Amino acid sequence: MSAVPGITLNDGKTIPQLGFGVYQIKPGETAEAVSSALEVGYRHIDTAEMYGNEKEVGEAIRASGLDRGDIFVTSKLNNSFHEPGDAREAFDTTLSDLGFDYVDLFLIHWPLPTKYNGDYVSTWKTLEEFQSDGRARSIGVSNFQIEHLERLAAETGTVPAVNQIEVHPYFTNGAVRGYGQEHGIATEAWSPIAQGKVLDDPAITQIAEKVGKSPAQVVLRWHIQRGDIVFPKSVTPSRMKENFELFDFELEPTDIDEITALDRGEDGRTGPNPDTFAYVPS
Ligand SMILES: NC(=O)c1ccc[n+]([C@@H]2O[C@H](COP(=O)([O-])OP(=O)(O)OC[C@H]3O[C@@H](n4cnc5c(N)ncnc54)[C@H](OP(=O)(O)O)[C@@H]3O)[C@@H](O)[C@H]2O)c1
Repeated sequence: MSAVPGITLNDGKTIPQLGFGVYQIKPGETAEAVSSALEVGYRHIDTAEMYGNEKEVGEAIRASGLDRGDIFVTSKLNNSFHEPGDAREAFDTTLSDLGFDYVDLFLIHWPLPTKYNGDYVSTWKTLEEFQSDGRARSIGVSNFQIEHLERLAAETGTVPAVNQIEVHPYFTNGAVRGYGQEHGIATEAWSPIAQGKVLDDPAITQIAEKVGKSPAQVVLRWHIQRGDIVFPKSVTPSRMKENFELFDFELEPTDIDEITALDRGEDGRTGPNPDTFAYVPS
């Protein structure tokens, strides 16, 4: 039995609340990193076409000898492929690169509201096809703002199972997260430790000292107790292990509130603002 709790999504599927992210892991280092993560106990891997390492993720999962059904795999549609025909082709490529006949979760990586005539709705309808034909067990979005989620709700038949957004103590993204809670959309918190930037914060180091855990464990535990899904990235086996050991302690409500109060609003973002982000690889 894994210590990692499962979160039930709005389509009835279950996702492990803690996973392993592979953004910025070089393809040549990915298989080794994913193998180490699986050895530590992670059973949920978050990749994307954009990360260029889907092949190596699949390779490591196959080499582990674990059942495919015991590992939750997410990938994402890259920004060049929003038009339905391109999305279909890109999804075929994602599955063949991973070497699987399905993914557990497939996401639109960015809404790109200033591109494709602002049409992310037909892209979403294409993901609905992937879910209907069983090749994406669950479908969701990433970096969607409230306005984008409202438009999907008004113009399509399904509600995304998840919205994967930037969330960490310096950018708590409260409004988008709150919308998700009200509408049954699970929040996946990307860059959960702000790529390390929050780990020296005195409020966090003081709580870490008090509970006898590392700053990264405290921040990840804060996410877990708030109910979000996280997948910290590390190429360092000792950190992979540290980040997995989150279920033998609890933060007090006052600790949670103190960490949440570190929010810096828009100034706290480490990544781009989804309203204006418009990068489309050529
Ligand atoms: N949907 C999106 O647009 C989007 C955007 C960004 C990220 N993501 C997803 O979210 C995942 C996580 O986000 P992220 O990779 O940006 O950042 P992150 O997980 O917040 O931080 C990763 C960084 O922190 C370091 N680190 C990890 N554990 C540590 C520990 N215990 N103590 C000290 N340092 C530690 C890692 O170093 P080492 O690797 O050197 O150990 C790495 O530099 C990604 O891998 C990806 O799957 C999605």
